[in-house]
Amino acid sequence: MREQIHPAKSISGAIQLPGDKSISHRYAMLGGIAEGITKISNYSTGADCQSTLACMQALGARVDKRDGATSIEGRGLKGLYEPSNTLDAGNSGSTIRMLSGILAAQSFTTRIGGDESLSRRPMERIMTPLRQMGACIEAREGRFPPLAIQGTKLHPIEYTLPVASAQVKSCVLLAGLFVDGRTTVHEPVRTRDHTELALREFGAEIDVDKRAISVIGRPQLQGRELFVPGDLSSAAFFLVAALIVGESALTIHGVGLNPTRSALLDFLSEMGASIKILDVKSSGGELIGDILVRKSPIRGGVLEGARTAALIDEVPVLAVLGAASQEGLAVRDASELRVKETDRIATIAENFRRMGLRIEVKEDGFVVPGRQSFHAAELDSFGDHRIAMAFSVAALVADGPCVLENAESASVSFPGFFDTLHRVAE
Ligand code: S3P
Repeated sequence: MREQIHPAKSISGAIQLPGDKSISHRYAMLGGIAEGITKISNYSTGADCQSTLACMQALGARVDKRDGATSIEGRGLKGLYEPSNTLDAGNSGSTIRMLSGILAAQSFTTRIGGDESLSRRPMERIMTPLRQMGACIEAREGRFPPLAIQGTKLHPIEYTLPVASAQVKSCVLLAGLFVDGRTTVHEPVRTRDHTELALREFGAEIDVDKRAISVIGRPQLQGRELFVPGDLSSAAFFLVAALIVGESALTIHGVGLNPTRSALLDFLSEMGASIKILDVKSSGGELIGDILVRKSPIRGGVLEGARTAALIDEVPVLAVLGAASQEGLAVRDASELRVKETDRIATIAENFRRMGLRIEVKEDGFVVPGRQSFHAAELDSFGDHRIAMAFSVAALVADGPCVLENAESASVSFPGFFDTLHRVAE
């Protein structure tokens, strides 16, 4: 699909976003292995989270969508079935990596794969700790999907993550639910803690001691009524749009403000963004609030270290912000971008080149000078949802209409993205 995006004079009004992708995955997986019914409101409509639901369904969980809620009748820790076909994780790294922790402990063999992009993403990061727990798991060329996971009895481990990854942490903690005793994951830097919060909600015993997270195996998980906050990573596109376009003022209602994700708001505020948070409440251990953002002069800055890990999904749209800022943006310690849905350093750089924007590419990041002029161009998502949305935002400040090729990939996390964008952009 080709989408035309016109330059905008303002981004204004009030919007609500689809449920958080990370939280939705976790609620669906835990709902599937809990006892009883888990009723989830505002479950992500994105294709990735629908892939997780379909996988849980293929494993025997009953899924029912009605009145805006998604209900999952769980099978308990011991009740999943052997699926008749290869599980399809679609484009979703979270689905394949986290679900593998559950599959490794079953009494049957599962094959799980996905689309072309997912088939190029590295899986050793989950295979190593799962094998230490006793798992039998094989991958194409030893490291890529599809995976063949022969379920077996696992044992607890203490594992230090070599790379900061909430998906890998979650994979090990989910496998730890099926073993006798305590499984501990040490993180090099703190990553999103939705799994820890969700496990607690479902009744598991979780200890968090600084960057060591432990789960006690074989809990009684109980189905719950849960609400998924709006996705802050989706909000990022609208925040940046409002910060760089004309006379903008936008309210985003009901956004997830989990402190392990909200470093984005601190980073934007430090660079000069006018952002207000209103009406904060808590649901399922997750913070939720409204965000008010106004057009502001953005100084620019440096993203590095633990902060890069915390903002890794936001880097594509921050690159756009950097080019519109006064002093530009340097991004370091971001080699993980090379193994996302696309090599995001390469796909950002290619769209920059097409818009006549300067960028100095490094192996683990880039430097973008500020005060640049965005030129109308034919842009491409290259099949990556965050690249699609980041460059739709760039198109709003171009000197003429832009076309975005492969725009449909936005629906991986945000199916209504273009409708919402056209509604707030004038
Ligand atoms: C996610 C963790 C991050 C993030 C991804 C979602 C999660 O990936 O980029 O979009 O839900 O745990 P890594 O674990 O690879 O850092």
